[in-house]
Amino acid sequence: MSSSALASLLGRPVTIAGLGMYVPANIVTNDDLAAVLDTSDLWIRQRTGIRERRVAEPGLCSSDLGILAAREALTDAGLPPADVDLVITATISPDQLTPATASRIAYQSGCINAGAYDMSAGCTGFVYALAMATGMVASGLHEHLLVVGAETTSRVLDWEDRSTAILFGDGAGAAVVSPVSAREGEVARPGILGFDLGNDGSGGDLLGIPAGGSRMPASCATAEARQHYIKMNGNEVYKFATRVVAPSARRVLERCGREVADVDLFVPHQANLRIIEAATKKLGIAEERVYTNLQRYGNTSCASIPLCLSEARAEGRLKDGDLVLLMGFGAGLTWGACLMEWGCQSGTDDGGR
Ligand code: ACO
Repeated sequence: MSSSALASLLGRPVTIAGLGMYVPANIVTNDDLAAVLDTSDLWIRQRTGIRERRVAEPGLCSSDLGILAAREALTDAGLPPADVDLVITATISPDQLTPATASRIAYQSGCINAGAYDMSAGCTGFVYALAMATGMVASGLHEHLLVVGAETTSRVLDWEDRSTAILFGDGAGAAVVSPVSAREGEVARPGILGFDLGNDGSGGDLLGIPAGGSRMPASCATAEARQHYIKMNGNEVYKFATRVVAPSARRVLERCGREVADVDLFVPHQANLRIIEAATKKLGIAEERVYTNLQRYGNTSCASIPLCLSEARAEGRLKDGDLVLLMGFGAGLTWGACLMEWGCQSGTDDGGR
């Protein structure tokens, strides 16, 4: 399928026009965790690939991190905050159940004309939010959206549970989603090409925070039973993740008329290096085309993909025209793949690269 056919499929061409990120300065190493938990640096590195993670200073919440990432993304895009139409925040550690974390992020980052809401799709949240934003810009409903993945999972982790406490980290990433503007006499080529989104609710109890919602309202008993923290069946989540990633990635590639061999950079959700390696092998993508930074940040849930994009670009691994495959998976159980040509491009309508 040519890029012009994709453009008509998706409406007007849409791209990521700016990126931002923020991670707290406070580093917690595996050895720091081994000092308080029955674990070791070797176990964590061998089973997950993680060496250290960031933990936000006391008093900070997800919106605090998201605001800093959002401001950086707006500056990067050269977009006045007042021109943002909608802020969508993807998070598994919202500031509170209501109001939305996005409301505070929009307010504090100067998006005074924007609507704002949160969306929940586990660690797949950023890809889901990007899909919503792409559809809204492509259809002409909105011009500029700000998509923020913001997490302080440290606040919802059971620091006495070694099976989850070692995995997660705090951070935020943001992307400005805008129409592609074509130079005079040229054709706008789509940046974001397509999505594959999925859900298997039968695995809902394998990963989540059991209490504090309407299903298990907060009580002294739920607090005593530590039900307000992340609970996970790690083995089953591992099997799920390695099962869904490659087929979902193949579906979005096929839908967009591209091959695995065309992918310049694969940016998977940073849950566990072993999951990434197994999925990459199944998909047949060369190791040097896979981006990882979980070694330094752990699993930052909805922030992991925009954090990777920001760092990959800063390291020169994300160049205009590169074919980029994003892949999220997580609680729900949910998964989502996104294929995009990086950059705000216009050019001759040559049917692709
Ligand atoms: N340190 C030392 N030993 C540990 C630790 C630890 N931190 N955690 C568990 N163990 C022990 C277990 O008790 C078990 O001991 P036993 O054999 O005596 O019973 C042993 O290590 C092996 O445990 P497993 O759970 O089988 O270890 P596994 O190799 O499966 O690794 C892990 C566990 C890392 C959690 C893995 O299952 C995994 O990564 N799963 C996916 C998790 C994930 O990606 N979650 C996020 C999804 S995204 C989202 O939406 C949040």
